[in-house]
Amino acid sequence: MDRVNSIKELRQQVTAWRVAGEQIAFVPTMGNLHAGHLVLVKQAQQRADRVVVSIFVNPMQFGAGEDFASYPSTIAQDVAQLERIKTDLLFTPSVQEVYPRGQKAQTVVTVPGISDTLCGASRPGHFAGVATVVCKLLNMVQPDLALFGSKDFQQLLVIRQMVEDLCIPVEIAGVPTVRDADGLARSSRNGYLTAAERSLAPTLYRTLCATSAAITGGNKDYIALELEAMQTLEVAGFKPDYYSIRNAADLLQPDKKGHRLVILAAAYLGRARLIDNRVVDKC
Ligand code: PAF
Repeated sequence: MDRVNSIKELRQQVTAWRVAGEQIAFVPTMGNLHAGHLVLVKQAQQRADRVVVSIFVNPMQFGAGEDFASYPSTIAQDVAQLERIKTDLLFTPSVQEVYPRGQKAQTVVTVPGISDTLCGASRPGHFAGVATVVCKLLNMVQPDLALFGSKDFQQLLVIRQMVEDLCIPVEIAGVPTVRDADGLARSSRNGYLTAAERSLAPTLYRTLCATSAAITGGNKDYIALELEAMQTLEVAGFKPDYYSIRNAADLLQPDKKGHRLVILAAAYLGRARLIDNRVVDKC
């Protein structure tokens, strides 16, 4: 696997592949790679000739007081894992390479509406940071396909809308969440959990499954279901941020017109802010 730090070297390699008629897939990450990331890379390999992975902890998507400074960095292990699964190219730009004029002078991409609710309401500016860096990375790599995990359900919708609105010629693929055997969604932030918190953590997904089953069983009192779930989480030791039943396509409040629903949750467990979701198969 080659590793490059500059946009110039990245473009040289990607251009050579493109001239040879090869299809390019891209997996953007913030590193500290786990099984969820590796599934993204493997799916990318099945769908394209070449796979580029980026590792860049994007300061622009972290708010004041969030975990940017302490975000786990495990570059040596990440490189070894990517080598093992035969990734073609790793792009590890510096903050200076991505934001040469500094973050304050950077053109910002904001995706209205969908960015303002749920995680966007709790983390102001977060999705502008995500949309801006993903837009830049897509322009740097110019892939045919880019893959994102579905654990970050709202992020995936923000990115899809951005790509559509800005006519960026790339296919966006959402890949199902990878879970531990007890249901906990794989996340770099799981590393913040103590052993006791780790054993409580699957309650988040179990609660999402219980709400989903209630809706599938015909319960349409979404507000009562949300409150009940918040209580379950609090009793289990979480500090819930939100627990919300929404239309899966646009995250608007369900209008009972039979649209596909998604249940989204964010909750603190100790230092870790865990997020997860479950699409309701039938309602
Ligand atoms: O999901 C992530 O890891 C990040 O938000 C992303 C998409 C790599 C942008 O920094």
